[in-house]
Amino acid sequence: MSERHTMQCCINPSILSADFVNLESELARIANADGVHVDVMDNHFVPNLTIGLPVVERLQKVSPVPLDVHLMISDVDRWAPLYADAGVSSVTFHVEASDAPVKLARELRARGAKAGMALRPATPIEPYLDMLPELDMLLLMTVEPGFGGQAFLDIVLPKIRRARAAVDGAGVDVAIQVDGGVTEETIVRAAEAGASVFVAGSSVYGKPSPAQAIDALRARGQLALA
Ligand code: DX5
Ligand code: ZN
Repeated sequence: MSERHTMQCCINPSILSADFVNLESELARIANADGVHVDVMDNHFVPNLTIGLPVVERLQKVSPVPLDVHLMISDVDRWAPLYADAGVSSVTFHVEASDAPVKLARELRARGAKAGMALRPATPIEPYLDMLPELDMLLLMTVEPGFGGQAFLDIVLPKIRRARAAVDGAGVDVAIQVDGGVTEETIVRAAEAGASVFVAGSSVYGKPSPAQAIDALRARGQLALA
């Protein structure tokens, strides 16, 4: 048995399910979160439109928790560095949208952000394994990106396992994040497969107490990671 220290379970609620007209108070409701997941969509890479750079810049100024920005946008090589410049904790781009993912990951780190790379459910991890040392986070989508409230795709679980094995095998410090359909049930399967950072939109903001929902998810996830 190789020794693996227990990973910390992180819960990053998605403000996609929050009230967009009261974002500052919505952030205050998740002050016990590890990060806040901010979904940027351009109605081009995905068939939905949310917020962009000016709003993210303001969120960065008022948020009690670090910003985890998920860019579901085309032309991401041009836009992502500007989000890093805003001072957010991490910037995640979709590999399907990037012309030069290695260059982009390096640029994000050079600008002081953690570099995250996201894969849609049907995008295989194998072509990108040599890139792991360039990354701080790998986001494995467990729904087709674009909308909150979709059902968790169990077909992604084998990819999470393969990614965990690759990260451990390479000895790199790359967090594995999952996003989409995370609930108190599915978080257990995703954590057992090897993810440790969990995005949850509807299962946090859809509850009367988002803070309690975060604690409950974290407890379930941590148990599965132990
Ligand atoms: C979907 C977004 C997710 C979304 C998750 O494209 O990337 O972050 O908010 O929402 P739930 O947790 O409701 O599936
Ligand atoms: Zn997301």
